[in-house]
Amino acid sequence: MRSRSRAQDQRLRFWNQVVYSALAPIYNGLDWLTFGVWWRLVRRALEAIPPNQQVLEIGFGPGKLHVELARQAALCAGLDLAWGMCRYTQRRLIHADLPVRITRGSVYELPYPNVAFDCVVSTFAFSGFPEGPRALAEMARVTRSGGRVVLVDIGLPEDGNRLGTGLARLWEQMGDFLYDLPAMMAEAGLRVITFKEYGPGRHIRLVVAEKTGSQNFL
Ligand SMILES: C[S@@+](CC[C@H](N)C(=O)[O-])C[C@H]1O[C@@H](n2cnc3c(N)ncnc32)[C@H](O)[C@@H]1O
Repeated sequence: MRSRSRAQDQRLRFWNQVVYSALAPIYNGLDWLTFGVWWRLVRRALEAIPPNQQVLEIGFGPGKLHVELARQAALCAGLDLAWGMCRYTQRRLIHADLPVRITRGSVYELPYPNVAFDCVVSTFAFSGFPEGPRALAEMARVTRSGGRVVLVDIGLPEDGNRLGTGLARLWEQMGDFLYDLPAMMAEAGLRVITFKEYGPGRHIRLVVAEKTGSQNFL
């Protein structure tokens, strides 16, 4: 684990204890504030998730994607660290008349057995995890062999364009971690099958990886 500065710790506490815990409805307003752009960026995850699967979403936030997943999955579970987000998403699922299978917890200790899911998905949460490799190892552990890990998150654009690089660096200033997701996935025993950059300055990426057979933890 790389060591964090005090400023990074303070920023993490601000996001986790203030924004995500107390301000879930305001975070939900991001979609409205950005004229739907936020949702267009997030929903790209759906194109990588076949229907009728057992899906786990990590860091579901206010739950807009989670409701879509719950509609199309055979079983949809979710985990988030923030009570505020859990309550907000719970209400959303109940309102949509969908089963509620959400848990308040941390990505570092997923309360699920090995190989429990066909697909583990996370949007704009992974870059907020200070211990990326540890988080990914847990996500891989609960994914079945041949199953998928799907991430949508920020990163430095491969072509180094100024807009995308500047935007990614801005997120980093606000406390996010700019991970090399494909390299990290390979180390976790995941084979990258899709890597697509999109969004402003192409600083958002959809990364889809398949769990290879030898990593079943059985
Ligand atoms: C930027 S929000 C993303 C929300 C949503 N997925 C989206 O795309 O808008 C990050 C979410 O990750 C959650 N989170 C932060 N640290 C976490 C951890 N260690 N384990 C699980 N969830 C965490 C936060 O509570 C928050 O809901």
